[in-house]
Amino acid sequence: MNRLVLIAFAAIAGPLAHAGEDPGKQLVQQGNAQGALACATCHGVDGAGNAAAGFPRLAGLDAGYIARQLQDFHAGTRVQPVMAPIAKALNPDEIQAVAAYYAAQPLAPAPALDRSSPLPQDPGAQLALRGDWSKGVPECTRCHGAGGAGVGSQFPRLAGQHASYIATQLKSWRDGSRHNDPGKLMETVAKNLDDAQIDAVSHYFAGLGQP
Ligand code: HEC
Ligand code: HEC
Repeated sequence: MNRLVLIAFAAIAGPLAHAGEDPGKQLVQQGNAQGALACATCHGVDGAGNAAAGFPRLAGLDAGYIARQLQDFHAGTRVQPVMAPIAKALNPDEIQAVAAYYAAQPLAPAPALDRSSPLPQDPGAQLALRGDWSKGVPECTRCHGAGGAGVGSQFPRLAGQHASYIATQLKSWRDGSRHNDPGKLMETVAKNLDDAQIDAVSHYFAGLGQP
């Protein structure tokens, strides 16, 4: 093959090879023919989500956590009318592919806050970093990691998640409509929080780890 032919071949094969390279990205941008809408419509190609619409940020969440939530929407153990039909239209390979894609999207690192950091005065920070032991609520960072960075696939990152979404989830556990948490860990926490605490702690975590 001479050089020109090679270049022409690369020009044709290049984009095709690229499209086939990442099935996760393809699903995010185009959905599938089985009824899964393009995730990007709501969560963005970059996984930033949409605070006003209540679409969570997916960028930088652990792949194992994303996959398990999709499996739960699929199985109906996490009940949500928008995500249920989409997750049901994904097969197990597609779930792994989209989870890996969004987990790999870059996100500002969560700040390295821990128990030794000076405690900010606002009630959201107090709850996040110290808990409310008058109600038996441990600090959120005990499970969600320093700075809300997340721990493994069990404890999702909260830093930089939209406040509206964090608040909706806490209220869903409190009223029993979300109940897919292992060991009822979050239900126990949320049932002891009042509206003002939910609002404060949601804004606290949303403000962490922003670019
Ligand atoms: C029409 C809008 C829409 C589309 C399209 C959509 N989602 Fe969602 N997604 C939502 C909403 C709304 C929620 C929040 C559900 C809730 O409040 O419990 C959500 C939640 C999620 C969650 C849970 C996140 C968490 O932190 O627990 C995951 C994972 C997810 N979506 C993945 C996807 C994937 C992957 C696709 C594409 C295959 C997709 N979504 C397509 C609207 C959408
Ligand atoms: C005892 C451990 C524990 C503590 C303490 C805890 N969480 Fe959680 N949290 C979890 C687990 C486990 C999950 C994942 C549930 C699942 O798998 O569906 C979770 C999930 C969440 C989610 C859902 C995130 C998402 O992407 O959908 C939010 C929001 C949340 N926790 C907020 C908080 C806040 C705020 C506090 C402090 C007031 C807190 N958590 C304290 C264990 C804990």
